[in-house]
Amino acid sequence: MTRKKKRTPPSTTAGAPIESALARFQPLLAPEDYAALLAELDRPLYPAFRANSLKCDPDLALPRWAARYGWQLAAVPYCPTGRWVTRSETPISATPEHRLGFYYIQDAASMLPPELFDFSRASAPLILDLAASPGGKTTHITARSGDRGLVIANDSSADRITALRIVLSTWGSINNAVTHFPGEKFGAWFPETFDYVLLDAPCSMQGIRTTESHPMRAITDHEISALAARQARLLASAFLALRPGGQVVYSTCTLTPEEDEGVLDVLLRQFPGAVRIEDLQSRLPTRAPGLSGAGPREFDPAVQGAARLWPHRFGTSGFFAASITKTASVSAPTLDAPSRPLERTGFEPLTPAETRDILQIFQDAYGFDLNAPLTTQDLSLWRRGPRLFAFPNAYLERFSALPVQSLGLPLGEEGSDGFQLAHEWAARFGLRFQNGVLTLDEIQSQAWLRGEDLPLSAAHPDGATLVIRDEWDRNLGRGRVQGERLKNLYPRR
Ligand SMILES: C[S@@+](CC[C@H](N)C(=O)[O-])C[C@H]1O[C@@H](n2cnc3c(N)ncnc32)[C@H](O)[C@@H]1O
Repeated sequence: MTRKKKRTPPSTTAGAPIESALARFQPLLAPEDYAALLAELDRPLYPAFRANSLKCDPDLALPRWAARYGWQLAAVPYCPTGRWVTRSETPISATPEHRLGFYYIQDAASMLPPELFDFSRASAPLILDLAASPGGKTTHITARSGDRGLVIANDSSADRITALRIVLSTWGSINNAVTHFPGEKFGAWFPETFDYVLLDAPCSMQGIRTTESHPMRAITDHEISALAARQARLLASAFLALRPGGQVVYSTCTLTPEEDEGVLDVLLRQFPGAVRIEDLQSRLPTRAPGLSGAGPREFDPAVQGAARLWPHRFGTSGFFAASITKTASVSAPTLDAPSRPLERTGFEPLTPAETRDILQIFQDAYGFDLNAPLTTQDLSLWRRGPRLFAFPNAYLERFSALPVQSLGLPLGEEGSDGFQLAHEWAARFGLRFQNGVLTLDEIQSQAWLRGEDLPLSAAHPDGATLVIRDEWDRNLGRGRVQGERLKNLYPRR
C-alpha cells in the first residue's frame, strides 16, 4: 500500500508539540498500547469516502470508480459503503461523482456513529441530528434509513447552516429539514417524540491525530470541563426528545474521558433505570471498550460498552461513540416550540390537479415516474413563486410550524419557456431517466466538465432541460437547449 504523500505534521495548531498534548493520555493506556499509539502517529492517515446508496448501487459503483480513477480501495470494516483510498491517480475530491454527491469524503472514524443505529425499529423514522453541521453524518443517516420519514438536521451555529444545507442538497436527501436552534431546547420542545437521535457533540477535538477537519489543539482542563458540561446538557435534551424504546447515538472526536465516558456517566445518574448503554464490542473488528475510570474518577461499568477508538485500534483518528436505548418513559418540564407555519413564508401546496400536471411533465419529458418517490418516500409537492419542491409529509404532519432553514429537495422551476428541472433532482434521479437524456463521448465530456457549452447535432425542443451522461454512464448534471447549443449547467462549485 502507498501512503498519502502530503501528511500533516505531528503538532498542535497552537504550535505546542504533540507530546505535551499526549501527556494527558499516557496514563490511560498500558505501556505497550501507548507505544503502539506513538507508532501509529508516525503513519499518515489514508483519505476515505462513503458511497451514496441513494444515488447509486455502491457494489457496482465502487469498482467502476476504482477502475476509472486509478484508486486502490480498502474496506472500512464497520461501514459497508466506506472505503479508504490507499492509492489514487485522480484525487477523490476531483471527480464529477464527488461534485454531484455520489460519495462524501469523510474520516473513517466518523463513519462509525451512523452505522450504530438499528433502523429496523421504525419503517418511516423520525430522526433528530442535534448538532449536525456540516452534515457528514446526516448524509450517512439519510442513506442508511432509506431517506424515509424525516431527519431534522439542527445546528446552533448560524455560520455553519449554509454548509449543512449545501451538503444535504448535494447528497440529494429529500426527507430532511434543516433547523437552527440551541440543541438544549429540543428535549423540552418535543418530549418523547423521535425514534432516533444523534448527538455528535461539540468537543475538545483531542482526537490525537491532526487532520484538516479536526486540528489537534492545546486545551485547558477548564475548557474540557465546560465542554463536558455542555455535552451533558445536550445529551439530556437528546434523551428527553427520544421516545421510549428509541435509540440515541452519542459521539465525539475527542478522547478526553471527562467528555466521552464522563458524560455517559452523568446521563446514567440523571435518568436511573431508563438508560441502557449497549455493549458495542461484538460489533467492532476488535474490542475498543470505554474506560472504567480516569484518575480518581470511577465510571459506571456500563460505559465500557462504548467504542473508544484510539488511533492505533483501526488506523483512524481518535474517536468515541456510544449507543443508548431509552428503556422507560421519563418526565421533565416542557416548553412550547417556536412556531412559524410554512404558509407564512410564502410556500403553498400544489393542488391535486397541479400535481397531476407535474407528474405528466416528468413522464413526457423524462420517462420518469415521479409518483414513485412521492409515494415511497411520502412526499408532497409545494411551490414558492415559480419554484417547486418535494417536502416530506412527516414534517408537514408532525412539525409544520417549526421554523426551518431549508426543507426537502428542489424539483424545478416553472418559467416562460416551460418547466426547468432542478439540478438537485437531476443529480439524484437523472440516471433513472429514460428520455430527455444526452450522452456525451469522451471528448465532449471533457469539454463539458471544463464548463463549456456544446453544439447540438440532434433537434431538441428549445428551452428544454436535458440530463447529461457520458459513455461511462456518469451523471454529469443538466444542460439547457438554446437553439443549436446546449448551455452548460454543470455546477461550478
Ligand atoms: C462535531 S460538530 C458536528 C459534525 C457533524 N455531525 C458532521 O458529521 O458533519 C459539532 C457541531 O455542534 C454545533 N453546536 C455547538 N453547540 C451546539 C448547541 N448548543 N446546539 C446545537 N449545536 C451545537 C457546532 O456548531 C458544530 O457544528
